[in-house]
Amino acid sequence: MSLKEAESLVKSKQRVADHGEVFTPASMVVEMLNLVKGETGRIDARVLEPACGSGNFLVPVLLHKLVTVQVRYGKSQFEKRHYALFALMCTYGIELLSDNAQECRDNLCAVFNSFLDVDRDNEWARVARWVLEANIVQGDALTMTLPDGEPITFPEWGYLGKGKFQRRDFRYADLTQRASFEGTLFGEIAEEDLFTAVRTHPIMTVHQIAKQVAI
Ligand SMILES: C[S@@+](CC[C@H](N)C(=O)[O-])C[C@H]1O[C@@H](n2cnc3c(N)ncnc32)[C@H](O)[C@@H]1O
Repeated sequence: MSLKEAESLVKSKQRVADHGEVFTPASMVVEMLNLVKGETGRIDARVLEPACGSGNFLVPVLLHKLVTVQVRYGKSQFEKRHYALFALMCTYGIELLSDNAQECRDNLCAVFNSFLDVDRDNEWARVARWVLEANIVQGDALTMTLPDGEPITFPEWGYLGKGKFQRRDFRYADLTQRASFEGTLFGEIAEEDLFTAVRTHPIMTVHQIAKQVAI
């Protein structure tokens, strides 16, 4: 690795000391993602990076998903756009520092906009920004709280087909418990009975979401 490349992995010595902020080099990200190849290319695989920085992992994860979108749905503009948005909806992060969290949202948005060839005022780009406001959370992944001390919640998005999306919000602390029930007696119980959504939103199309998005 050149000195220039090494320098790009650090913003300042103070931030390294305060927050352990050292970004992962692209080549290492590629190697690590190769270990879970089957998952990263799956459009509906929900991927959460709990210390996401500016998205060094999440950006390639989204790119992998979008490759699948192109292969499966590239011929239909309608399906391509909706599944690309769904891919973005399945990409999550937590980041302590607000500038990093915003960079991460911007980087993911840039990938999405470029894939759909839309500019930032287009309704798809506006909805993507709104999704990322919810999916990339500025908060503390260890205490599972927001800067104001409230619990972190994440939207769970579903694509119902025919242009319709469903959003239900869950507490992050509850989501982390899901895996621990697998393979136990409780694993037989439907997830809805174990974990209650803190909010269920109406089913909406992109156009309907865009109309109520101020971003
Ligand atoms: C080692 S860097 C890695 C960033 C990114 N994952 C990458 O590989 O390039 C760690 C990141 O975690 C953030 N961070 C530190 N403590 C955190 C916490 N308790 N919750 C969430 N993020 C945290 C830092 O601000 C920093 O951006």
